[in-house]
Amino acid sequence: MTLLQTVLIAFWVMLPAYVPNNAAVLAGGGRPIDGGRTWGGKRILGDGKTWRGTTVGTAVGATLAIVLNLVGGDLGGSLGVSLPTFPPAVILALPFGAMLGDILASFLKRRTGRGRGAAFPGVDQFDFVIVSLALAFIAAPGWFIETFTLGVLVVIFVITPILHVTTNIVAYYLGLKNEPW
Ligand code: CTP
Ligand code: MG
Repeated sequence: MTLLQTVLIAFWVMLPAYVPNNAAVLAGGGRPIDGGRTWGGKRILGDGKTWRGTTVGTAVGATLAIVLNLVGGDLGGSLGVSLPTFPPAVILALPFGAMLGDILASFLKRRTGRGRGAAFPGVDQFDFVIVSLALAFIAAPGWFIETFTLGVLVVIFVITPILHVTTNIVAYYLGLKNEPW
């Protein structure tokens, strides 16, 4: 497999995990998941993690995975690469894992005294990838091992922080996000 093909597969397979956080930024608002509750004087999660953002983010990511399944055969054929098809459980695991990773990161941010919107370098860039990969593995171990070869995983860990940083800077300048991270 060429490097370009590996990059294409890595990007394709992670799209349902990349999109939810951006959809949540657009859809966010309303009741926070922690209902305003605190733990040790600090918010459990904070106002940045809402039911609406989480639900819409997961739904958008899952819908995208279904669309990718529908168009992947033809597109892969014309690009000369075999694009993976998402098994049913993975359609949900990737986007929900991305949202859950981001929620766990907020939990850690609050515990370490970081207020809403504070940067947490390293965690911000990888939280959603690690948990979405973990849930995808649990959802379909055979498919995971077949799809996420070492090459694909290495590419994911290189392109994810780059994509994360650039999309957040773009969202900041478009006025969609309060901080450029
Ligand atoms: N959002 C949401 N629900 C989520 C994740 C995000 O509603 N599960 C929305 C919120 O409006 C949030 C915005 O997307 O403010 C940006 O997301 P993020 O940067 O993850 O949240 P922050 O506000 O920066 O809060 P935190 O410090 O907890 O990350
Ligand atoms: Mg933030």
